[in-house]
Amino acid sequence: MSDKIKMQFKKNGSIRVTGTVDFVDADGNVTESKTDFSLCRCGASKEKPFCDGSHREAGFTTD
Ligand code: FES
Repeated sequence: MSDKIKMQFKKNGSIRVTGTVDFVDADGNVTESKTDFSLCRCGASKEKPFCDGSHREAGFTTD
């Protein structure tokens, strides 16, 4: 298994993260580890920082 994390910027949508990532709080403590998820970049998600599909209703577009 590769240690590399892949971040794919989806057209008109989220950033798809493939691999396992540690989430770290301001004190440096790992609060959660997550594998294969999507990050919101449109600002409309109700589950930030994760994508909940709201970008479609928001009409988010990328060039
Ligand atoms: S990119 Fe999907 S909800 Fe923001």
